[in-house]
Amino acid sequence: MKIAILPGDGIGPEIVAEAVRVLRALELPLEMETAPVGGAAYEAHGHPLPESTLKLAQAADAVLFGAVGDWKYDKLERHLRPEQAILGLRKHLGLFANLRPAICYPQLTHASSLKPELVAGLDILIVRELTGDIYFGQPRGRRTAPDGAFAGAPEAFDTMRYSRPEIERIAHVAFQAARKRAKKVTSVDKANVLETFQFWKDVVTEVHAQYPDVQLEHMYVDNAAMQLVKAPKAFDVIVTGNMFGDILSDEAAMLTGSIGMLPSASLDANNKGLYEPSHGSAPDIAGKGVANPLATILSAAMMLRYSLAQPEAADRIERAVQAVLAAGLRTGDIWSEGTTRVGTREMGDAVVAAITGKTITKS
Ligand code: IPM
Ligand code: MG
Repeated sequence: MKIAILPGDGIGPEIVAEAVRVLRALELPLEMETAPVGGAAYEAHGHPLPESTLKLAQAADAVLFGAVGDWKYDKLERHLRPEQAILGLRKHLGLFANLRPAICYPQLTHASSLKPELVAGLDILIVRELTGDIYFGQPRGRRTAPDGAFAGAPEAFDTMRYSRPEIERIAHVAFQAARKRAKKVTSVDKANVLETFQFWKDVVTEVHAQYPDVQLEHMYVDNAAMQLVKAPKAFDVIVTGNMFGDILSDEAAMLTGSIGMLPSASLDANNKGLYEPSHGSAPDIAGKGVANPLATILSAAMMLRYSLAQPEAADRIERAVQAVLAAGLRTGDIWSEGTTRVGTREMGDAVVAAITGKTITKS
């Protein structure tokens, strides 16, 4: 099993290093090869997604990705910015289905900004379409406004679009995921205003006919944003487009106490995938050894489950994470009174120890 390891920028290298140590502790026949991506790749090769990195990712069975981005690259032309690396990987590898679970661990209920009773037991899965929508729609650019009240003025524009097959395939992913869970899908749209999302709603409704055992509800995105903080446990699976999914998944992540806990999977039609923490590169804390590596470690577990067909190994990682939380170990983002604050490396050590059966000490 070949894994491409792409640590990236900011805290990426630190957190990926811990996930790699956890993977090695499983003693599986995993072949891991590392390549630069994002700002790190721009520095080394003049491009955020060098040909060699893309080739490695294409040849691998799965990709473990850290994070990309740093404010210092904000002035670069768009095609050279670190974010283009992740967008390029999604597009080139056809990773259209982004799964972002938002689970509130019992030990972390008090880390949420919502009242504990609202989030205790929270378990939502956001299924975000990842290769279409306004992120990739053409044409886009800058021009002189051709008409309207501001004709003649400089303007910028993007194109929101979805084709029927794109909506169908992500709807199938959502309904199939719901079948293994609480059997409810909320399709989030803006059908009251946008043609693209009226079409989205129509197509999701059609696909639903094949899943009579799953309940489907439709919700406008503004209401969904509100319901997520009002009664988040009413959701099971949320399926939505690329941009709404980007926004709602950050919101859902925060319900759980820390975005530092949440893994994600981005899958193609054959379950080959890229696995990354839902959080970003956090350049402000990079290199300090304080970042939470658990989202990346849990992403490695998702990789074992979805792309490498190793569900027992995935369970071992997830149980180990539960064990270190139960033992009271916390990085700064999830620390609270009465728990033990640890750094990135110590958190990784504790997960490795839990996997290999050694005891976890509290100091
Ligand atoms: C995400 C990120 C990316 C996105 C950025 C880094 C391009 O916010 O994975 O959610 O917008 O998809
Ligand atoms: Mg985002």
